[in-house]
Amino acid sequence: MKNTNPTSTEAWKKLTDTDANSLVMKSLFEEDPLRFEKFSVRFKDILLDYSKNRIDDKILSSLFDLANQTDLRGAIEDMFVGKPINGTEGRSVLHTALRNRSNVPVYVDGKDVMPDINAVLDKMKTFSEKVSKGVWKGYTGKPIESLVNIGIGGSDLGPVMVTEALKPYQHSHIKTHFVSNVDGSHITEVLKQVNPETTLFFIASKTFTTQETMTNAHTARDWFLEQALNEAEVAKHFVALSTNGNAVSEFGIDLDNMFGFWDWVGGRYSLWSAIGLTIACSIGFDNFRKLLEGAHDMDKHFRTEAYEKNLPVLLALIGIWNTNFLGATSETILPYDQYMHRFPAYFQQGNMESNGKYTDREGNKVNYSTGPVIWGEPGTNGQHAFYQLIHQGTQLIPCDFIAPAQTHNPVSDHHSKLMSNFFAQTEALMNGKSLEEVKEEMKKEGKSPEIIEKIAPHRVFEGNRPTNSILVKKINPSTLGALIAMYEHKIFVQGVIWNIFSFDQWGVELGKVMAKSILPELKSEEVVASHDSSTNGLINAFKALRKD
Ligand code: F6P
Repeated sequence: MKNTNPTSTEAWKKLTDTDANSLVMKSLFEEDPLRFEKFSVRFKDILLDYSKNRIDDKILSSLFDLANQTDLRGAIEDMFVGKPINGTEGRSVLHTALRNRSNVPVYVDGKDVMPDINAVLDKMKTFSEKVSKGVWKGYTGKPIESLVNIGIGGSDLGPVMVTEALKPYQHSHIKTHFVSNVDGSHITEVLKQVNPETTLFFIASKTFTTQETMTNAHTARDWFLEQALNEAEVAKHFVALSTNGNAVSEFGIDLDNMFGFWDWVGGRYSLWSAIGLTIACSIGFDNFRKLLEGAHDMDKHFRTEAYEKNLPVLLALIGIWNTNFLGATSETILPYDQYMHRFPAYFQQGNMESNGKYTDREGNKVNYSTGPVIWGEPGTNGQHAFYQLIHQGTQLIPCDFIAPAQTHNPVSDHHSKLMSNFFAQTEALMNGKSLEEVKEEMKKEGKSPEIIEKIAPHRVFEGNRPTNSILVKKINPSTLGALIAMYEHKIFVQGVIWNIFSFDQWGVELGKVMAKSILPELKSEEVVASHDSSTNGLINAFKALRKD
């Protein structure tokens, strides 16, 4: 990949010189009745409308220039062909190979990785079918009724987000549970709901060393053995999804029950790998395959489509415009689909662990903003919680609204009501409401001139707040796969342009290491004096308070 400071490009300079504040979306829509046609694009069942952004042809064209001047095309190819673009760890980045349904060879260190990927997929298919058909039996001969995924970060959020988003596809005779937090309450509550005779635990950890996961895995194993009494029965109830065979054996899981993947799969991009076994067992392997197919379709689109029609590229460039030129520091993801309630959390990790970095690819501190804060909740819940600030707060918060045209639950007029809110919100954020409009409205309500004078300013919406609308036909496995891949590639494009390494996560190390050194201090009775006065004070207060 080329290392270019984006601020040194001609395109960046042009964008900086643009008078962004003069762009009023409401006027742009009035001036151009074809603005929607111009600034929206369809790919299969997905419609992206990005017309409600503060952009025009000139800005878009400079954004495309920015992508060219930072060699985005070259970087995309580098990723797909397996070049070691994760520079700080010397690794390829090949989640795209995991869903490479065309089977075109992909080489890492001269070796085609596709045969190994397909072998794991075959093993996942056989296993998940045995579980769903009741052929895989627990230690007392009963079929599996509960799946418990134990993992954290990408080893949790991917499976939990997908199984929730695709709940209508879940096997009705199998319940899926997730344990991630090292807080003992999490596993305690899940274990209350399952029976050791009919439960299958998936220990999902790329490294198989993560403190939270290994602690929960040991607790689950102890709980299981309290009932089963025989270590040999562990093989019927524990499987490992990991890259670390030695640690898996050491834990006591038979390597036959290990589903492997590779160091070129990033944790937050791993749901397509063996980490997806929980998904396959929950929704069936055919649906898991459709998820991979949907993502693969998006991969081909991303790799080959012109920037003007390329969904991930458009989303990424608009995000850069909002972040670097309009000063946005956060972005929301707002699914108008209750099943997608973990989608914002999933991409909170996806974005923030990937692009939350201030060091560029040459080791310099950047002189521009990189990844924004990502947050969100499903609509319409968010409307009654935080939309106030999005409409009338002092910060510019670009929003992605996502909704399906078809619901899985066509109950009465719920879906029309849901969608009327979806459309109303983006229109309101764009149009706003002027002081004159408010005064007129209040006059019609019969309010006195004094009240109008006093209250009207509070009812003004300045509008001009950017949104993308992503409308899909239905949330099914292939559409979901495509949506996930779309956002993954958005993150990649932004990382390329910001000249940062998107596929490492050194920022999570420091806290982890320090927690390890504090743990023995919590276990001892000694007064702690090895830290700053705040940390010492807190630890000593905790030790005093925990005594009855
Ligand atoms: O701490 C961050 C992280 O490394 C994430 O990137 C990853 O998804 C998570 O921890 C879990 O890691 P593992 O799968 O190795 O347990």
